[in-house]
Amino acid sequence: MSEPAVAIPGAPESDSGPIGARRTFAIIAHPDAGKTTLTEKLLLFGGAIHLAGAVKARGESRRARSDWLKIEQQRGISVSTSVMNFEYQGWTFNLLDTPGHEDFSEDTYRTLTAVDSAVMVLDAAKGIETQTRKLFEVTRLRDMPIITFVNKMDRESQDPFALLDEVSSTLALDCVPANWPVGMGHDFKGCYDLFTGRLLITGKENKNLEPEVIILEKGLDDPRAAELLPAAQLAKLREDIELIQVGYPEFDTEAYRQGHMTPVYFGTALKNFGVDELLKGLGNFAPPPRPQPAEGRMVLPTEKPVTGFVFKVQANMDKNHRDRVAFLRLCSGHFKRGMKLKQVRSGKPITVSNPTLFFARDRALADEAWPGDIIGIPNHGTLRVGDTLSESEDLRFTGIPNFAPEILRRVRLGDPMKAKHLQRALEDLAEEGVTQVFRPRIGADWIVGLVGPLQLDVLAARLAEEYNLEVGFEQAPYETARWISGATAKDLDEFLAQNRGTIADDRDGAPVFMARNAWELSYIEKKWDRIHFHATRERS
Ligand code: G4P
Repeated sequence: MSEPAVAIPGAPESDSGPIGARRTFAIIAHPDAGKTTLTEKLLLFGGAIHLAGAVKARGESRRARSDWLKIEQQRGISVSTSVMNFEYQGWTFNLLDTPGHEDFSEDTYRTLTAVDSAVMVLDAAKGIETQTRKLFEVTRLRDMPIITFVNKMDRESQDPFALLDEVSSTLALDCVPANWPVGMGHDFKGCYDLFTGRLLITGKENKNLEPEVIILEKGLDDPRAAELLPAAQLAKLREDIELIQVGYPEFDTEAYRQGHMTPVYFGTALKNFGVDELLKGLGNFAPPPRPQPAEGRMVLPTEKPVTGFVFKVQANMDKNHRDRVAFLRLCSGHFKRGMKLKQVRSGKPITVSNPTLFFARDRALADEAWPGDIIGIPNHGTLRVGDTLSESEDLRFTGIPNFAPEILRRVRLGDPMKAKHLQRALEDLAEEGVTQVFRPRIGADWIVGLVGPLQLDVLAARLAEEYNLEVGFEQAPYETARWISGATAKDLDEFLAQNRGTIADDRDGAPVFMARNAWELSYIEKKWDRIHFHATRERS
């Protein structure tokens, strides 16, 4: 790794070499907090997209953004462009996009299993919002390190100290400011970098130009600070910095990497403040590829044999070809194009001859890839979410579950002659995680299970658009479902025999109990104490 331009004191030195230099992360945010704008600016600062002249820049940047949106709209909101690979100052970043809608979706959860850290974006006026919290809880399940970015400081905001208090008290996370805003709203002048002592101040504003940023390397000791900032703001900044020095702990990389502490960057993605600092923070502090949990052991990224798991499958990325791309997170080894990997579930070898790396606007064939990288593997439905690919050992990565659906609906076909077609379409979409499908043991209709109501619209739209199937959804007599297993095979058989009317099979043939309501579920759970009811199911 080449020396970063601004080495941050305290950053670990050991993260070098192709594995150590990789940072695989996602951005989590409540809708509208600025995830898209920040993504765009990270790609811009990382040199992955380029803006030509300043005036053109606005149009150009708008186009870059609408590309994302267009793809999101085409694919339905639960699907996304997924992965961006870019380099910056010797680091290789893999940014995974988490679908940005209000429903919690399995797709989001699975994406978060494939990253090593996350950036949490907050709107400075709103602080922690419902979706921020839900997504944060998911990252906490894996003790994921979080960097916080407080966006929109150029608008009227909450007091920065109050925001830090809110983050620490609502999320039980130690906060350490990484930079500090100078003013807010109309009076926003820039940020003071607490790690390097640099002061970044807004220069001339011209509505056709990207805002100018003046950097004072010597920070408050630079005589120009007094020329560029009103005396009252400069005095307030000095006072705030003193308060921070006594009121907050020193930043501790280990505590951050264990998920106990978050560095907080203030800024505005729109006006480019805080973005470069955030990227450097990610490079200096965010963990390189972490060990991944597999059955029986942890797999270290430095192990020689290549391993990885599929966390997402996207069908119909190109409408003209019914192709599917499986997204593989590499966990160990040095992957080379043309390699033969074993699909552990089936025991069959797969020659990976056309692996794809995803760049901001492009895809390219990947000749090689390292742990932390995401490669797309085109296939015809062989690869499934949760699959482990391995060069030699019969490994199984864990932690990519199905979630018990909260909404169950019967699917009614406009044209009953198309039943087979519907089955195939539902299987495709189930594979992508758009829906789950259940086949009741009695009755002919498919039942779809969803985790949030928005997914129903996405499902209907995609069935119509991509499969030419008009469907309606009807209330199913069930409200919730649980995967079941028995203390012994005999216990399970007895339960299945006596409850045939409320048993369905999931896509893999695993039995599911469907309950009319929560009361019934709890009644049955008590009555059948040798049966286990599971709200999640590890994929096999
Ligand atoms: P999302 O992906 O998290 O949903 O948010 P997105 O980036 O789309 O931003 C939501 C809105 O907030 C957009 O405005 C965007 O321009 C604005 N925004 C993002 N970052 C900042 C910031 O730092 N400062 C200010 N003042 N605004 C910011 P919009 O009106 O919905 O869209 P547009 O017409 O501006 O494109």
